[in-house]
Amino acid sequence: MRLRKKWWAVPEMKENPLVIFDAENYKEKWDEEFKNKNDIILELGCGKGKFISEIAMENKDKNFCILDLDTNAIIYATRKIKDLELLNVRAIPTNIEKIDTFFKENSISKIYINFCNPWPKKRHHKRRLTYPNFLTKYKKLLKDNGEIHFKTDDDDLFNASLEYFTENGFEIILKTFDLENFNYPKNITTEYEEKFINLKVSIKFLIARKK
Ligand SMILES: C[S@@+](CC[C@H](N)C(=O)[O-])C[C@H]1O[C@@H](n2cnc3c(N)ncnc32)[C@H](O)[C@@H]1O
Repeated sequence: MRLRKKWWAVPEMKENPLVIFDAENYKEKWDEEFKNKNDIILELGCGKGKFISEIAMENKDKNFCILDLDTNAIIYATRKIKDLELLNVRAIPTNIEKIDTFFKENSISKIYINFCNPWPKKRHHKRRLTYPNFLTKYKKLLKDNGEIHFKTDDDDLFNASLEYFTENGFEIILKTFDLENFNYPKNITTEYEEKFINLKVSIKFLIARKK
């Protein structure tokens, strides 16, 4: 069932200085926007913002941009970053397909993709945020040795993504089919992750590095 659009989400975000609706105009001037030259990290498909609010709070020496096209979800992420005064975060409510118009080549240190939609039907695979059409764009934006951290509950998506990454110029430097029982100290959970942990679904996680 499709949720009704929250009519107030866009007007509210337009009043929030941490939200950017014209990110293509920032391509050359993120340092100016953040008022520093710190690393820029992306979270793609941020949803309601639990992950970004925790990671950005713990890493004030890094800059973060979060992207999501669902205004019903990202509105809550934008509220969190505003309430927590996370000046090292900017939110971009848009389709990730346009990502290469927002950032320069070799300018991004790391990308997080958490629980993107698995799109199980073959004809929809190209919408997966780890599908090669997206990976080609991410690879250009990432600096050398830049990393993509990817988590999912979905076995098919995870196995397919392992192939997408290796076939598209990334080296898998870490992978686990059971993150909860893997000794990974730095994990920050997301809203979807909490849901799947409660359902006893194992979380799949990989780190892919640009070769
Ligand atoms: C299943 S939710 C996961 C949300 C959050 N990352 C979490 O783990 O709780 C996937 C999110 O990705 C967003 N998304 C999927 N494809 C997208 C695209 N092409 N551009 C922007 N956002 C996208 C959806 O709108 C949705 O909010």
